[in-house]
Amino acid sequence: EQKETISVTFVDKDGEEKLIKVPIGMSMLEAAHQNDIDLEVSVTFPANVMSGACEGSLACSTCHVIIMDVDYYKKLEEPTDEENDMLDLAFGLTETSRLGCQVIAKPELDGMRLALPAATRNFAVDGYKPKPH
Ligand code: FES
Repeated sequence: EQKETISVTFVDKDGEEKLIKVPIGMSMLEAAHQNDIDLEVSVTFPANVMSGACEGSLACSTCHVIIMDVDYYKKLEEPTDEENDMLDLAFGLTETSRLGCQVIAKPELDGMRLALPAATRNFAVDGYKPKPH
């Protein structure tokens, strides 16, 4: 029996949980946006590096999420080389990190919990330089 939506919990850096319904086929980035979940932590950013800055085209790593349960992590498709390359640039990378734009809702992922990297992107100390417009 195919479900049309799955339940996914986002856990922010303060440990606050938000349970949302995600339609099958939708990326976690899109789902976060639709539910006003800011994948970025509250750091002051230039406007051009907001979460999901590249709209899912694997050209940023601002949609970094951590799959909290390794069993769910294993249910995901293997990351592509492109995703791995971008993940390497993500601050606070973990063993179960993925890019939210590449994690697509499917029935097996019902109940998944995603953590947003805590107080992560302190670009100032991580060699980050905002691109000039
Ligand atoms: Fe840019 Fe996911 S939104 S890599």
